[in-house]
Amino acid sequence: MKTKTIFHLFILLSAIFTASIHSQTKSYEKQIDSVLSLMTLEEKAGQLHQVSLSWATGPASPEGDKLKDIKEGKIGSVFNIRGSEKVRALQELALQSRLKIPLLFGLDVIHGFKTTFPIPLAESASWDLEAIELAARVAAVEASASGLNWTFAPMVDIARDPRWGRIMEGAGEDTYLGSLIAAARVKGFQGKGFGSVDAVMACAKHYAAYGAATGGRDYNSVDMSERMLREIYLPPFKAAAVAGAATFMNSFNDLNGVPASGSAFLMRNILKGEWNFNGFVVSDWASIREMIPHGFAENDRDAAKLALNAGSDMDMEGYCYRDNLKDLVEKGEVSLSNLDDAVRRVLRKKFEMGLFEDPFRFTDPVREEKAMNNPEHRKAARDMARKSIVLLKNDDELLPLKNGQKIALIGPLAKSEDDMLGGWAVGWDDNSDVVSQFEGFEIRFGKQNLLYSKGCGVSDPSKDGFEDAIKTAKAADVVVLSIGESRSMNGEAASRSNLGLPGVQEDLVKEIMATGKPVVILINAGRPLVFNWVADNVPTIVYTWWLGSEAGNAIADVLSGDYNPSGKLTVSFPRNEGQIPIYYNHFNTGRPSMQDIPSKDYRTGYIDLKQSSKFPFGYGLSYTSFDYSNLVFSSDRLSKDGVIDVTLTVKNSGDFDGEEVVQLYIRDLVASLVRPVKELKDFKKISLKSGESKKVTFKVDKEKLSFYNEKLDWVAEEGKFDIMIGSSSADIRLKGTIVYE
Ligand code: NOJ
Repeated sequence: MKTKTIFHLFILLSAIFTASIHSQTKSYEKQIDSVLSLMTLEEKAGQLHQVSLSWATGPASPEGDKLKDIKEGKIGSVFNIRGSEKVRALQELALQSRLKIPLLFGLDVIHGFKTTFPIPLAESASWDLEAIELAARVAAVEASASGLNWTFAPMVDIARDPRWGRIMEGAGEDTYLGSLIAAARVKGFQGKGFGSVDAVMACAKHYAAYGAATGGRDYNSVDMSERMLREIYLPPFKAAAVAGAATFMNSFNDLNGVPASGSAFLMRNILKGEWNFNGFVVSDWASIREMIPHGFAENDRDAAKLALNAGSDMDMEGYCYRDNLKDLVEKGEVSLSNLDDAVRRVLRKKFEMGLFEDPFRFTDPVREEKAMNNPEHRKAARDMARKSIVLLKNDDELLPLKNGQKIALIGPLAKSEDDMLGGWAVGWDDNSDVVSQFEGFEIRFGKQNLLYSKGCGVSDPSKDGFEDAIKTAKAADVVVLSIGESRSMNGEAASRSNLGLPGVQEDLVKEIMATGKPVVILINAGRPLVFNWVADNVPTIVYTWWLGSEAGNAIADVLSGDYNPSGKLTVSFPRNEGQIPIYYNHFNTGRPSMQDIPSKDYRTGYIDLKQSSKFPFGYGLSYTSFDYSNLVFSSDRLSKDGVIDVTLTVKNSGDFDGEEVVQLYIRDLVASLVRPVKELKDFKKISLKSGESKKVTFKVDKEKLSFYNEKLDWVAEEGKFDIMIGSSSADIRLKGTIVYE
């Protein structure tokens, strides 16, 4: 089914599910005032305290203490619990408290809930905002049916460093695309709005600049100019706020020496001040207390004071607020108005979510049962997965595979189910509903056409399986080799200094290539890997990331040609780790590299490495080809309040129907500050039948030419701008110049 149809079906279904929709702008301030006026300081601190529960209850366990705290109104939110029954039981406990304030239930629903979708970085490669919104919508339908009303997503951190394991969780390196995706995900999670029973509150994280961790080491310090922060790292957060994200989460890093959880600049000045955000900020796990090892706070009490005063509203598993806020307010170190503001923000969301009206609205077991077994969810996951796949090479047109070919599926990831789930799957104990690559191939190509051999492990040094793999390859017409990382090698606290293929996988590829059989490589990973030998010697390479529950089916769709790949990279692939950070929208130096060859010519670059990326931002092939022509500007002069129409024709000049992401880049040629060599400012994903042509029109206005100048004003400066249209950032097909005056 086409995404659009699935999308519309969902809109319809969510309208039916929606019992009563509270307008997101409805004001609950009076009700909040009256609740606030009844609360003791302890109860106020309780609303700002969040705990993780794993349901290992018992009077002597720490969980037991937490349950007691819930009953006494000392906890405002619980996370890591799921299931309508468990949620109902906990909510019942909360309702035994003096003021009967309901709990919020959160979880990391990052790329799907019961149905696992591709990792966010993979999804971003689809450049398909509707499909991405739908993926978040499905996750929200399932999560909300399981009792949850809050997801800790989307992660909107821009990342230019693939060593950082959490690059898998975002939308890549580009601010413009990342902002659109951030908004799409927020809309998907929050659906028709708070109060709707299938909406969960979104949480834009990690605020801010977490993706710029020095050296790609997780949690590490960030030091950057405010201009860079505002231009590159903050826009996706602002887009999430504008899209209505209910909450934000602090990042673990310090930014220019101030831990984000203690940064009044980030929270009070920018988020709650400039952006007028009326939701609340939750810390990351114990990030308030972690200001102590940072050397920023002396003890828990000091940490609580610094964080609350800076604008962190809720303390996730930190216990600093619970144990210290009362005393801090009584001694005047935290003002009552700051405390009340934080509590008011949390209560506001509880009202907006309809929890005061019906605390059990997310706990309907019948709805839960239905949502967990909805075949439409699987269809959406399969569609998203095949759109996320990026075809990197198809030199010999080996793909799509021909009918009836005997396929040898070889490699450590060919039968893996767990790995397909990716780094942030909600930990379902039973992964049997994951379609592995082997299963997907069996279904699509038939058992009789499929041979299998593992060959080796992901990181295991043993080559014992090579012999069988070679024998298997020799018995087939074509080999599909499934290699890469394991899923535990990316995500939180999984930074890597070496991005090569782990273990003996490259040796396996060499051995299989030596058989002379045609080889298709599938690379499974949560980040750009470095795989130069493979990239230079194997003519057919498909990047399959971690694609979720429907991985095997989606890959079979692409390899068989049932779906013509349309994904494009949203992050630059380095040639080696020494090149990191590498990103397409860099500045020119006074000595830009003139040609892409390593040499000591006193120009920017390396004497031992090319300057360009191995695979550039925006790159991805199709089974067909697209010709770009007829670039026309409605005018080559743009006035302050004017718009220029940039029109071109794209023709599908190959034999397959297909989709192309037409990309518009702009360069400000001379400005008061050095500007990037190109910046993505628009794109259109279009679908063309073989032989068909379509006109594509972009609108260029002042906004697209603007940037933060030295005074941090958002301005467009008069002068010349290159307008570039490309099939990737490194494949500019059409170019012209306009003058802004
Ligand atoms: C730590 C992670 O940094 C954050 O992204 C996540 O939401 C929390 N743990 C809660 O699990």
